[in-house]
Amino acid sequence: MRYLILLLILTLSATIVLAHGDEEHDDDNVEEVIIGEVSVPEHPTYHEHVRSIIEARCVACHSDGQIAAYAPFTDPQDVIWAADDIKFHVVNGIMPPWPPSRENLPLKYDRSLSDAEIATIAAWVDDGAALGDPHDYAPSATDGFDFVEVRADLTLQLDEPYEPDPNVLDDYRCFALPLEIDAPQFITGYEFIPDVAEMAHHNILYLFDEGAQRAIQRRNYADGRPGWSCYGGPGLSTGGEGIGGWAPGASPVIFPDGTGFLIRPGQYVVVEMHYNLWTTRQPDRSRIILQLESAESELAELINISLAAPVEIPCPTGVAGPQCEREAAIERVAELYGEDARYTPDYLLRECGQRLADYADNSGEQAIGHCDFPVTGSLTLYSASGHMHELGRSFHMELNPDSDESLLLLDIPRWDFHWQDQYYFVEPVTISRGDILRMTCVWDNSLSDDPRYVVWGEGTSDEMCFGSVLALKP
Ligand code: HEC
Repeated sequence: MRYLILLLILTLSATIVLAHGDEEHDDDNVEEVIIGEVSVPEHPTYHEHVRSIIEARCVACHSDGQIAAYAPFTDPQDVIWAADDIKFHVVNGIMPPWPPSRENLPLKYDRSLSDAEIATIAAWVDDGAALGDPHDYAPSATDGFDFVEVRADLTLQLDEPYEPDPNVLDDYRCFALPLEIDAPQFITGYEFIPDVAEMAHHNILYLFDEGAQRAIQRRNYADGRPGWSCYGGPGLSTGGEGIGGWAPGASPVIFPDGTGFLIRPGQYVVVEMHYNLWTTRQPDRSRIILQLESAESELAELINISLAAPVEIPCPTGVAGPQCEREAAIERVAELYGEDARYTPDYLLRECGQRLADYADNSGEQAIGHCDFPVTGSLTLYSASGHMHELGRSFHMELNPDSDESLLLLDIPRWDFHWQDQYYFVEPVTISRGDILRMTCVWDNSLSDDPRYVVWGEGTSDEMCFGSVLALKP
């Protein structure tokens, strides 16, 4: 068989290219990413070359009953029919959804395609997307992800199904699930099992203390339905602790050997669900199963360390008026979310040792928020996650930036609100006193339908620069 050597030059269109950190970025320019030399068959066919990739890397979501059921890839004719679209999505790195870049520290459950896989799909499409002979099919050797199994020691589920909001296409809903345990335990793993996979887009799981009970009771069922509407977080002024999250295709999670999250009677798991209601709208009773160990066992306790950076996003060029004043933005969040929200913007600047003047260069099109967190003791880190809303462009978390030993813990060059996750490092990272953890967020306010000065807030049209790292409790 003959193979061609292909030098793939990926051309990313301006709309999906994002600036890295504080680099200059010209939106009219098209960025070229060279992914290297790979060999591909000269006349690839579906059965011989493409099917194994689609089956291992796409079908988990692109099939009946799954989140991308509207575009199924289970029938070869469907794949051939969508060939151009598939090439576009894989060549531009949009599919499979895997926001971290290739410069990122190696991550578990990496969904991205290799250069050879991308080039094979592109060559197949360019060559006319031939079907080929089913006898030539060989299943992929590296078939996707190594799923782990979680023991169901405790199952959390709503007492009655939640009927999604009939008036929206994206419904963000928080549910508080009481932890019915008699004694402290460790969570050593969890799995989210969607009830209606077609509409379960992603979620974030939090742990809240008994102290949140009143705030929960106030919100729960306030509109007559289970849970409450929430977007940037559960919005229960007492802070909770993130313990994980889920997105379609995510593997169940088993925490690193010998570690777990300590839970106590009276606490709640709050799940912040994003339902995407394009394909279907059905009552939902998704489940979360928890694998537990007794608190007497000699496990090391996990914690999630939260990181926050200032959000100072001016109006884009051509937009002016009172809504573009920072003061107006602060009044607005105070009115919407209470007096605490008024102090958050200045608090964040102070905590990061910054002044407002440090953000004088922020423009509506490129607004940066960053913070350096000096490490004060030795810590083992297992995973990282980032959180922004829909004006987000890029997210970076870097250890010891500007040094020879810098490490990109999380590098998301194209932020997509719809694909956020917690990313586990293949190898734990040890950090120690004197190290610096830097978090950087970049926003583009011209993405807003109704631009105004934006500060930190919980709502859809507010923003956040929030990150967390999963660590062993020192
Ligand atoms: C983790 C789930 C998941 C995986 C894995 C996945 N997709 Fe998708 N895909 C989606 C979702 C969800 C959408 C709808 C758009 C969105 O939400 O981003 C989508 C949209 C698409 C579309 C656009 C369809 C249209 O016409 O609107 C294409 C093409 C596509 N995916 C191709 C692929 C290919 C090829 C693979 C494998 C190499 C793949 N996807 C893997 C979830 C996934």
